[in-house]
Amino acid sequence: MVTPIRVAITGAAGQIGYALLPRIANGDMFGPDQPVVLQMLELPIDAAQDALRGVAMELDDCAFPLLHDMVLTSDPNVAFKDANWCLLVGSKPRGPGMERGDLLRENGPIFEAQGKAVNDHAASDVRVAVVGNPCNTNALIAMNWAKDVPNERFSAMTRLDQNRAQAQLAAKAGVHSTAVKNALIWGNHSATQVPDFVNCTIDGRSAADVIGDEAWLTGEFFQTVQQRGAAIIKARGKSSAASAASALIDHVRDLTTPTPNGRWNSVCVPSDGSYDVPEGLISSFPVRADGKGGYEIVQGLELTPFLKEKLAASAAELAHERDEVKALLPS
Ligand code: NAI
Repeated sequence: MVTPIRVAITGAAGQIGYALLPRIANGDMFGPDQPVVLQMLELPIDAAQDALRGVAMELDDCAFPLLHDMVLTSDPNVAFKDANWCLLVGSKPRGPGMERGDLLRENGPIFEAQGKAVNDHAASDVRVAVVGNPCNTNALIAMNWAKDVPNERFSAMTRLDQNRAQAQLAAKAGVHSTAVKNALIWGNHSATQVPDFVNCTIDGRSAADVIGDEAWLTGEFFQTVQQRGAAIIKARGKSSAASAASALIDHVRDLTTPTPNGRWNSVCVPSDGSYDVPEGLISSFPVRADGKGGYEIVQGLELTPFLKEKLAASAAELAHERDEVKALLPS
């Protein structure tokens, strides 16, 4: 039998977890021939552990052929034991009146503990994807505390933003979303994120040329992608979960399968200084994967002065977030 992949998921009984776990167990993330063990972490409180048990009962009831085993725990050291992938979805939500800085500092200790647990207990080939917000800086904290794990094994998710940008451009151009290729997000997964409309193509031509409406591209398009999460909360009364889970499936597949020639995907990875994003910050870039665990940041894309200015602002926000949590990083 193929050795199962061990996948740790934090916040497993939350909204995204509920939409994500059946899809992983169904083979959507690692393929139809790859068995999985789901190692699910929830808070050590009765309500969360009860909910987790309920989720596990439902997974049992799906009788997924690829689901080899499940681990239910409130201990990160158990959840991450021998894990090949750690999907860090759970985080402390923003409460009423809470500033972004407060949120960063509240989440810091969670991602410190989880980074250490990844370091000490995960498999030697572990890779970590952070979804829990503020995901870039949470990933930065976990990465810094996982001292023995190479930095490039850490990523954070802007694939949902990429998918949103792709859908918006397709709708505006009146084409199916598959006609839009290389949709791309730069910078932070926040309201400063930068959806690229120049290097993205529609039926093979720059989206900027096909749409030919600069005011829409720099105005409504930008705002719709940046504010889509808030629009979904307003409409649904809850934040995006199915689309976030689906994007995480895409994110992991993007990093584990070879990217087709001429293509890229948006992944938040540690900056090597590319595109003037300060080295070490976890920022969204165009990324190509080799399918063997390696990836590269695509070089040489041209940005318009407008996009450059927006990326510089988003990178400055990331640097500011790093400064806000400086006391929580190892010295
Ligand atoms: P949710 O509140 O429904 O679920 C979060 C779960 O995490 C809860 O069950 C909670 O008990 C658990 N949790 C909290 N702290 C934990 C810890 N220290 N260890 C283990 N479990 C913990 O939230 P939802 O909708 O599932 O979203 C999860 C996160 O994903 C949020 O931070 C959200 O902002 C973020 N998100 C990120 C997106 C992205 O594109 N990067 C898109 C959508 C959501």
